[in-house]
Amino acid sequence: MTVNEFMELAKDSISSLYGKEESALIAIILLEDTLGIEPGKASRIKKNQLTTSELDILNERLVKLKSGIPVQYVTSTAWFYGMKLEVNNSVLIPRPETEELADIIIKDQRSVNRSLNILDIGCGSGCLLVAVGANLKNHSLFGLDISENAVSLARKNLKNQGLNAAFEVTDILKDEVSLNEMFDIIMSNPPYIPFKESHLIDKQVLENEPHLALFVPDDDPVIFYRKIVDFAYNNLSESGTLYFESNPAYTDLICEMAADRGFKYCEVSKDMSGKYRFLKIRS
Ligand SMILES: C[S@@+](CC[C@H](N)C(=O)[O-])C[C@H]1O[C@@H](n2cnc3c(N)ncnc32)[C@H](O)[C@@H]1O
Repeated sequence: MTVNEFMELAKDSISSLYGKEESALIAIILLEDTLGIEPGKASRIKKNQLTTSELDILNERLVKLKSGIPVQYVTSTAWFYGMKLEVNNSVLIPRPETEELADIIIKDQRSVNRSLNILDIGCGSGCLLVAVGANLKNHSLFGLDISENAVSLARKNLKNQGLNAAFEVTDILKDEVSLNEMFDIIMSNPPYIPFKESHLIDKQVLENEPHLALFVPDDDPVIFYRKIVDFAYNNLSESGTLYFESNPAYTDLICEMAADRGFKYCEVSKDMSGKYRFLKIRS
């Protein structure tokens, strides 16, 4: 079987799950990852014959895709801000919006010459730490997450990019954070989907991604933001910035919470799809 023939077979087998266009993209990702081809270069080898062992792996992976497992978990790979990360089902698959948050932070901070202490609360795969760490000079990186598996994956992803960070497994809602530092940047993309909105979430996401990373109680959907704003009040340096990704429904409420805590500056910006998504909070 040729690469192209497998691509067509894969597309057809998953099109009922993902639709035609997305299936084509997923089939390409599957082939590129399995055959070790650079992203975007699959078309160059369309006519190549697949070996038996390549076909075995591809078929095995296709079965997982057909069962609804996201391609990132099937290949254990996600791309974030141009970097390859390892992912598994104990971490959220990094989203394009979060790449936008990384970009905001990098553009804001890259002209700063002094050394920066940077903390990611709810670091998951470590995607924000990897992107920000690889693109800013002079920094110390810190990450925390409630999930031990997430922390060990984040540690691995940083190491793969030649980066180092101090990590802590902590429940930010209950535990004292023992990273004993003042931070210049605190960034967080905490869980922000109320359980009552779970019916709006894709089946694939609901069935495969960790609910711990997604959902918050209906009666207190900004619980993480309140806790993190409080933490930042005591642990953000005077000229430091707190960056959030948020549910568009709560940006005003988060700014009010920050103002109540004494932060004088709160800027809200939109994501690529025009939704208010990112916050920048300072004294
Ligand atoms: C929306 S995910 C974000 C992950 C990653 N930063 C990203 O942007 O892809 C939220 C993260 O918060 C973590 N988390 C959930 N509850 C937590 C808690 N009580 N304390 C610390 N981290 C928590 C989850 O394990 C998850 O990794």
